[in-house]
Parts: sequence; structure tokens; C-alpha cells
Amino acid sequence: MQGFAGKVAVVTGAGSGIGQALAVELARAGAQLAISDVDTEGLAQTEQRLTALGVRVKADRLDVTEREAFLAYADEVKEHFGKVNQIYNNAGIAYSGNIEVSQFKDIERVMDVDFWGVVNGTKAFLPHLIDSGDGHVINISSLFGLLSTPGQGAYNAAKFAVRGFTEALRQEMVISGHPVKVTTVHPGGIKTAIARNATVAEGLDAAAMAEFFDRRLAATTAEEAARVILEGVSKNRARVLIGRDAKVLDLLVRALGSGYQRLFTFVIPKFMPR
Ligand SMILES: NC(=O)c1ccc[n+]([C@@H]2O[C@H](COP(=O)([O-])OP(=O)(O)OC[C@H]3O[C@@H](n4cnc5c(N)ncnc54)[C@H](O)[C@@H]3O)[C@@H](O)[C@H]2O)c1
Repeated sequence: MQGFAGKVAVVTGAGSGIGQALAVELARAGAQLAISDVDTEGLAQTEQRLTALGVRVKADRLDVTEREAFLAYADEVKEHFGKVNQIYNNAGIAYSGNIEVSQFKDIERVMDVDFWGVVNGTKAFLPHLIDSGDGHVINISSLFGLLSTPGQGAYNAAKFAVRGFTEALRQEMVISGHPVKVTTVHPGGIKTAIARNATVAEGLDAAAMAEFFDRRLAATTAEEAARVILEGVSKNRARVLIGRDAKVLDLLVRALGSGYQRLFTFVIPKFMPR
């Protein structure tokens, strides 16, 4: 992969799934890595894989919801490497539950990690990315940031918010003449631990939901997702869709407009586990 050699890249949620695969692909492409996660065991595994590839790595426990810690971390990374070129705001959680039965705290938790975590990372690193003269913000939204489905209201809200925030930032960087590119990523179902790590509303069967996701929805490997993301980054794409599911459903929603909701209320309850 061209264009990553010598760059300093920051990846949040790098202890598992897409974040781990991104860190490994970036290392193979010659980038230096600042990786973080709340899961220190997963993070140590990623660190080992990167060290084996012979790249410079800084690994830290970081909770993306902790704004002050994130701001301090951004300065530490700059201090450590002397510059920062790219941030992949990847850390995220999943939650399933109809809005009627979801607790405020469940919805707030998803917004805190999946939306505010991205805002914290973007704001903390933006001054350093501008200073580098060659910056890139890569924010991971979801297919669920392009369409809504029943049972995913909290996750939809967070991922639509990431998309709105990131698309505005891309335009602002162009208008202000700052040397920072901006990409929003919308993965479809990716084979990671996300559903197994997810929480669900009372009354839902978490194990059945995770099994359904792993068996029926997760179609693309994390490694393939990472390669597609890096290709999109190297081509400075505004929007990166990952997987056939994301591409087909994006087209469907654009063709049907708001009419997709009528189709989904009919089709989705037939597929989802009770
Ligand atoms: N897997 C999919 O099908 C899919 C689809 C669309 C979007 N995404 C998004 O991709 C991103 C990566 O997810 P994944 O599928 O690799 O899941 P994953 O569960 O395998 O990895 C997510 C990582 O984020 C970390 N994390 C969770 N909360 C954190 C916090 N507060 N601070 C720091 N780290 C935290 C976890 O410890 C974990 O290591 C997420 O933003 C997710 O919403 C995933």
C-alpha cells in the first residue's frame, strides 16, 4: 500500500477487530503506530504483532470517552513521535434494544463511546494534524450511519452523528485551506467480536443476537476491511463503503428514499431473532 511509509498513525480501539487489523496493515505499509484501547490484553497482542513487524509502536490504555485523558494523550503522541499524520477514530461498542424499552443510560453510553469518542479524538488531534502539513482524520461510522433499522436506534443515532460531524469537517478543512483530509467509513457486517462484546436491552437474548450476527450478517473479514479503508485513505475518498452488503443497501436506500423504512418494517422482523 502506497503513501503510508514514515507516517505516524493513531488507532483507537486497536485491541480487537478492525482496529487491530488497521494497525497491522498500517505497520506493513511502513507507518509508525500509536495504538490504544481499554482492553489492555487485546492491546498487548496487537503491540506484539506490530513489534514483530519492526515498526515503532506506542501502546497506551485510553478510554475514548475520557476527554481530558484524550487531550493529554494527543500531546504525548506528538511529543513521542515529533509529529502526527493520521487518526483512525475506530473504538466503538454495539447495543441492541427498541427505544421504548431502552434505558436512558444505555443510549447515553452508546453516544458517549461511538459519537463523543470520535469527537474527542478528532478535536484532540486536529491541531497536531494541521501542524504536520499532511494530516488525515478517518472516522469509523457504519452502514447503520446510512440507514436505520428497528432495535438499533441508539447505535443509528451515534453513527449518523459521526457521519454528519465528519462530512462537515471535510468541507471545513477544504474551505480553511488546512492540510487535513477527512474520510468517513461505513462498514457493513465485519467478522469481529463486536456482537459478542455488545449489550442488549432487558428481555433480549444477547447470545442469540451475537450468534445471528456472526452467522448471518458478518460477511467481510477485518483484514479485508482494513485494506479497503487504507485504499480509501490513500485515494482521499470522502466516503468508504465496506462489503457488498453496505454497497447494495446504500443503493437501495438512495433509490427508495424514506420509503426504505416501509420495506424494513416488513422484512427485518422476519429475519431477526426474537
Ligand atoms: N463489526 C462490524 O460489523 C462493524 C460494522 C460497522 C461499524 N463497525 C464499527 O467499527 C469499529 C470497530 O469495531 P469492531 O467491529 O472491530 O469491534 P471490536 O469489538 O472487535 O473492537 C472494538 C474495540 O474498541 C474497544 N473499545 C470499546 N469501548 C472503548 C472505549 N470506551 N475506549 C477505548 N476503546 C474502546 C474495545 O475494547 C475493542 O477492542 C466500531 O466503531 C464499530 O462500531 C463495526
